[in-house]
Amino acid sequence: MGAEVVVEGLTKSFGNQNIWRDVTLTLPAGEVSALLGPSGTGKSVFLKSMIGLLKPERGRCIVNGVDIVTCSERQLYEARKLFGVLFQDGALFGSMNLFDNVAFPLREHTRKSETEIRRIVLEKLDMTGLTGADRKLPGEISGGMRKRAGLARALVLDPQIILVDEPDSGLDPVRTTYISQLFLDVNAQIDATFLIVTHNINLARTVPDNIGMLFRKELVMFGPRELLLTSEEPVVRQFLNGRMDGPIGMSEEKDSATLAAEKALFEAGHGSGGVEEVTGVPPQMRPTPGLPDRAGGRRRLDRVMQLLHTLPETAQEAVLASLSGEDRRHAGTHQHDEGTVAGQRPRGPRPSTHSVRHGRR
Ligand SMILES: Nc1ncnc2c1ncn2[C@@H]1O[C@H](COP(=O)(O)OP(=O)(O)O)[C@@H](O)[C@H]1O
Ligand SMILES: [Mg+2]
Repeated sequence: MGAEVVVEGLTKSFGNQNIWRDVTLTLPAGEVSALLGPSGTGKSVFLKSMIGLLKPERGRCIVNGVDIVTCSERQLYEARKLFGVLFQDGALFGSMNLFDNVAFPLREHTRKSETEIRRIVLEKLDMTGLTGADRKLPGEISGGMRKRAGLARALVLDPQIILVDEPDSGLDPVRTTYISQLFLDVNAQIDATFLIVTHNINLARTVPDNIGMLFRKELVMFGPRELLLTSEEPVVRQFLNGRMDGPIGMSEEKDSATLAAEKALFEAGHGSGGVEEVTGVPPQMRPTPGLPDRAGGRRRLDRVMQLLHTLPETAQEAVLASLSGEDRRHAGTHQHDEGTVAGQRPRGPRPSTHSVRHGRR
């Protein structure tokens, strides 16, 4: 099973430039979480802090009882083996073929024989849809294949936690969906905890169990997907809809004068961009048929049913509406608290869980 990651009060600055402060969140074991946020809000810095490549000045990041922020170099060396990281560009060595790229961590960090290494590398290449591509150089393959090779390499040490930085960068929407499917398939097979940093709204709406958002140096929100996707928080709405109208500006956040000037412009009829009004909670993607069910998805169901009563009403409704008949039976047999009975719907019409309306609200 994947490891839980507990982040508490994490604060990071470079010199006197604070990047984010007091970030607190828990990545539940084996669940897939996504972190959104405008460019430059420190999402990559957050990932690097989680693996101890950068040192936050305050707070903790606990994995299997070890605090990555304050532990010794030796403990960090061990703790890092729990992580598989897929960097933005795949970070492959250009002069090595895919086989050697994927074998690299095994040759560096283990004493496995070349026969054993070969078995593992071919297995991971197969898992990521790269069977037969082992002799290719990174420069000879597509961007999507490079990302999959990066993922294969991230998998060779059997990580409990997989961190992914902007998997959609440079990929078309179809390839982005394929790599998303791959994340869920890998998750189903190895039950690792995932954190995916992304700008991609489609991915954010359909892939993760949990979503968080960084803005103005803080974690605006983190919780079950239904929480963020039904949120009326202006920055969340603006981000999900890709509009100019809202607190996010051309290069990070707007000052009040810019905000007022733009508001006047939009009120006078100037379009604020974005394609369509994106609302509601679409169905979550599932692992490819034939693969095991996601154990993390099962645990999530129990977890979310336990905390259901703490969620805003719209999020509660979205959670309940998303339950399949099987989910209801499962949740029903696992729920012991006195909160909402699993599967019991609040009175009133069934809310639509998936609607994409055109035009502005
Ligand atoms: N090693 C570093 N030294 C100084 N500043 C850095 C360093 N790494 C990142 N930053 C700064 O931190 C901020 C957040 O960067 P980053 O995490 O890359 O944003 P994001 O991934 O959300 O687009 C940026 O202003 C960037 O310039
Ligand atoms: Mg980044």
